Amino acid sequence: MTVTQEAEFAGLRALVTGGGAGIGAATIRALHARGARTAALDLDPTGAPEGALQIRVDVTDTAAVTAAVDRAADELGGLDIVINNAGIGAQGQVDANDDAEWARVLDVNVVSVARVTRAALPHLRRSEHAVVVNTASIASMLGLPERVLYSASKGAVQSMTLAMAADFVPEGIRVNAVVPGTANTPWVGRLLEKAEDPEAERRALNARQPHGRLVEPEEVAEAHCYLASPRNGSTTGVLLPIDGGMTTLRVRS
Ligand SMILES: NC(=O)c1ccc[n+]([C@@H]2O[C@H](COP(=O)([O-])OP(=O)(O)OC[C@H]3O[C@@H](n4cnc5c(N)ncnc54)[C@H](O)[C@@H]3O)[C@@H](O)[C@H]2O)c1
Repeated sequence: MTVTQEAEFAGLRALVTGGGAGIGAATIRALHARGARTAALDLDPTGAPEGALQIRVDVTDTAAVTAAVDRAADELGGLDIVINNAGIGAQGQVDANDDAEWARVLDVNVVSVARVTRAALPHLRRSEHAVVVNTASIASMLGLPERVLYSASKGAVQSMTLAMAADFVPEGIRVNAVVPGTANTPWVGRLLEKAEDPEAERRALNARQPHGRLVEPEEVAEAHCYLASPRNGSTTGVLLPIDGGMTTLRVRS
């Protein structure tokens, strides 16, 4: 089916976890601009763009997630798009985090993707344009220092994306992931605040990416929209890096 660009997301209903800040909020803005209706599921959804249905939920709580997804589907009149984007960081080498921290980070970053998608499936199965888009990270494609736990969690998100895409392709439900480089969000702001010399740390992060700057959340939002768009019905099982070339280019400094 051909869908015109102007009406790209008209009539479609999207749920965005972590939609209260950073990349998730930018994705909601981009979806609104293309005509979608949205729900932001977040620990603190009050930062979600105007017009989004705000649902306060912890993505580690199965009963609360099921209720939140059902409420979103109920109030939006169904669900076509699920953006699994909520996530948290973890720093340090392999001995830096104890079992409880491993369980906590994997619960938020990995199990939540299964939890939210599982709750959304009955609704997605009723959609003509069903799609799931996950937010992975270049940390899972490259060996970055002091990121063992975070990298493991995002590696799992990448693998789940491909496995779920294979499972659902016969049903016409697409599954993709964006793979962002370091992005200019409140998350990175918090990391910089903790650094001994925040300006030097920002310069180092900028220099790490071949295009010499952080990725803007709006650029990741564009990728979320591309992967979710009903215009791109053949796009499934795709891991799309938005990283200024960090995973693929070797430029001379
Ligand atoms: N910022 C980066 O450099 C970067 C790079 C690659 C990937 N990512 C990924 O992008 C996603 C969004 O990151 P961001 O930079 O916008 O982060 P952010 O901290 O700015 O926003 C994340 C949002 O997720 C919400 N959240 C966290 N834990 C939650 C929970 N248990 N239940 C519900 N909501 C929860 C937070 O309240 C927040 O609103 C994450 O999955 C992150 O791993 C970020």
